[in-house]
Amino acid sequence: MVVCVLLQLILLSLTAAHSQRTLQGCPDKCGNIAVPYPFGLTENPNCYRPFMGISCNHSFNPPKLFLGHGNVEVLDISLKGQVRISNLIAWDCYEDGVRTHWNSPSIDMHRFPYTFSDTRNRFIAIGCDTLAYITGSNGRNYTGGCVSSCYSRESIIDKTCSGIGCCETVIPKEVKNFTLKLTSFDNHNQIGVFNPCSFAFIVEKDWYNFSASDLRDFHGRREVPVVMDWAIGNKTCEEVLRGEDMADYACGSNSHCLNPNNGLGYLCDCNKGYEGNPYLPNGCQDIDECADKKRKVCEGICTNTLGSYNCSCPPGTYDDGEQDGRRCISSPPVKKEFPVLQVTLGTGLGLLFLLVGSSFLYWGIQKRRLIKLKAEFFEKNGGMLLQQQMSNREGTVESTKIFTAEELKKATNNYDESRILGRGGYGIVYKGILPNHNIVAVKKSKLVDGTQIEQFINEVVILSQINHRHVVKLLGCCLETEVPLLIYECVNNGTLFHHIHDEGYVASLSLETRQRIASETAETLSYLHSAASIPIIHRDIKSTNILLDENFSAKVSDFGASRLVPLDQTQLSTLVQGTLGYLDPEYLQTSQLTEKSDVYSFGIVLMELLTGKKALSFERPEEERNLSMYFVSSMKQNRLFEILEERVVKEGSREQILEIAELAKRCVRLKGDERPTMKEVAMEIEGLWRLGKHPWVQQDPQETELLLGEPSDSSGYNTTGYDSLKDHVILSLGGGR
Ligand SMILES: *[C@@H]1O[C@H](CO)[C@@H](O)[C@H](O)[C@H]1NC(C)=O
Ligand SMILES: *[C@@H]1O[C@H](CO)[C@@H](O)[C@H](O)[C@H]1NC(C)=O
Ligand SMILES: *[C@@H]1O[C@H](CO)[C@@H](O)[C@H](O)[C@H]1NC(C)=O
Ligand SMILES: *[C@@H]1O[C@H](CO)[C@@H](O)[C@H](O)[C@H]1NC(C)=O
Ligand SMILES: *[C@@H]1O[C@H](CO)[C@@H](O)[C@H](O)[C@H]1NC(C)=O
Ligand SMILES: *[C@@H]1O[C@H](CO)[C@@H](O)[C@H](O)[C@H]1NC(C)=O
Repeated sequence: MVVCVLLQLILLSLTAAHSQRTLQGCPDKCGNIAVPYPFGLTENPNCYRPFMGISCNHSFNPPKLFLGHGNVEVLDISLKGQVRISNLIAWDCYEDGVRTHWNSPSIDMHRFPYTFSDTRNRFIAIGCDTLAYITGSNGRNYTGGCVSSCYSRESIIDKTCSGIGCCETVIPKEVKNFTLKLTSFDNHNQIGVFNPCSFAFIVEKDWYNFSASDLRDFHGRREVPVVMDWAIGNKTCEEVLRGEDMADYACGSNSHCLNPNNGLGYLCDCNKGYEGNPYLPNGCQDIDECADKKRKVCEGICTNTLGSYNCSCPPGTYDDGEQDGRRCISSPPVKKEFPVLQVTLGTGLGLLFLLVGSSFLYWGIQKRRLIKLKAEFFEKNGGMLLQQQMSNREGTVESTKIFTAEELKKATNNYDESRILGRGGYGIVYKGILPNHNIVAVKKSKLVDGTQIEQFINEVVILSQINHRHVVKLLGCCLETEVPLLIYECVNNGTLFHHIHDEGYVASLSLETRQRIASETAETLSYLHSAASIPIIHRDIKSTNILLDENFSAKVSDFGASRLVPLDQTQLSTLVQGTLGYLDPEYLQTSQLTEKSDVYSFGIVLMELLTGKKALSFERPEEERNLSMYFVSSMKQNRLFEILEERVVKEGSREQILEIAELAKRCVRLKGDERPTMKEVAMEIEGLWRLGKHPWVQQDPQETELLLGEPSDSSGYNTTGYDSLKDHVILSLGGGR
């Protein structure tokens, strides 16, 4: 018996000293790179589990590893569930404004039980005139990407990848395959000297640091490392352990099964107290804790046991009684005797007093703290500044109110889930009911940083001065909360986008309504650009930002107040945020914001109204993806009527439609200077409208009247519905957000 145990111990220590990586008789590396089981070299099919074969090509020095018999190079393998592979870079190069060479590499892992790790990789694009996107599949089709833009070398900051020269974004979970594509807005004109090419790649997080010199030449690198998750099979632990055929179970003795939660099968891990390769039958070996001189788990007599150890104190010494039990002391630890009853009674009474006293104290302190916090937020959010500004402008802003946090909490039923009207990149919008039963929309913005407060106040003040029938009215704000809250009138008939594109609504608007909406929007923008006391550039005109009331009358929404964009130009390029498809390419290039950017966006809305097609759709073929390009090229080829909404063609005269189309085309000219002003656009649409032989030509003149300063009518509040916080294809420019 004793001999037997001894023998076992000796065997154990022998195998532990020489821990195995692969099955008996199988090579365990290729060149210098370890290939642990369940991976193995393809020379012998018995040496690896299905799909885990690695081919070792000795014609390279040192030899290179490839997945299966394919051409995906493996850089290293971790038994924790990752392999690092080498992946191609996409490039797109120009010379004197002409595209010279480009590629769009693809990779497909559908044959392997691998997915691209969403937590350990990033999508990165480098370039100054760069729109990079990635399309792929994780069971569902997926498209993502980012935009980077810069105008001069000087604006570039090394090591930050935030939209100037470099942008990055995350990839979704469980991606199996993808293709990388690059395009430019202006063929790298003007910037070709320092940035002839754009590049894009998926790369291991933190592997790449952007450097301005990469804009000039990144060709030195052809491949970058990417991390893939792997797993055994395609069943979870529960499914495998429940199954009848346990013969295929990959985890060896003294190990357990783990779900990696990446859409794949399962992984194995050694039990506590064991280490080694859990995929080998006896791969997990006991750890000899007592031999670990560094950690010194036990000061007394240490005996190693399987999976653990036993620590006891030598005769004459005592355990110190502490939990970890690793120290021995020379005298027994002192145990204090307690007079149990008295202590219990005393403690009980004492505790009672303490409890009552401290609750009072706590309650008092909390209340004061809350009041103080509210005051702090009020100040931080610019309350003083706003109050001052408002008192300076008495008369104009009487309808803008500063709400208290308490009022809004009540109005929104403590921000109840059921009150959410919309969510988006800018915040959440709740439906609120005021004590006088008026319905309002309460917008909770994202966190604001201190420097933007003044800007925010300015915008609130400007917005509160606009009193235009076709602008969603700002009723007030609340500054006592951590993030400022904005309170708007409610508009209850959805967005223009909804009425043009959503299922069941396609072709629901007549040409006449479309024209009226266009006219109202144009006229509102023209007013903002010129008639308002300070010109206001909307910056984000799109069909989701045009709300409709029950009479299908347009209400322009989502003013700068929701996006706090500082006006200093040097920073603007990082903060260019908008919706691709509507974004003025010139603005993107130069970062110079002018009112012509709104004209461009409005042109796109016009095209949307005419064609019923989305501004940007990755479902359309590449050359038709961008509505403005598609529209203009269709006009050039005399195919315009083929892409228009049928209902529009049916209801309008050919001349009338052509004129609107011509106007839309002029609005999206590349050079802002060549675009008409919003005023011209508004007048032209109005003219066309009158020319059309429609009964609604005789409109109520009030409809188009500017209503600056007119007292707000309360009927406008009694509406529901809200803001553009509807996500569709929006790429966040400047990535990283
Ligand atoms: C090894 O790589 C070389 C060069 O790419 C290729 O020609 C050869 O076919 C590869 N050998 C094997 C066994 O795959
Ligand atoms: C994904 O897109 C392809 C075309 O690119 C289409 O054939 C396929 O049906 C789409 N799959 C899903 C799940 O939408
Ligand atoms: C990715 O796989 C899906 C499904 O098999 C396929 O529809 C799609 O075309 C593939 N995409 C790429 C970029 O390979
Ligand atoms: C990138 O920068 C970080 C921080 O400056 C540094 O820790 C890291 O090693 C750098 N990575 C590379 C690949 O240079
Ligand atoms: C799981 O893998 C098996 C064989 O590897 C395959 O036959 C089966 O179709 C896969 N099931 C799913 C749901 O992918
Ligand atoms: C640890 O060793 C002590 C002394 O040899 C023994 O009394 C005790 O039962 C052992 N405990 C365990 C868990 O093996």
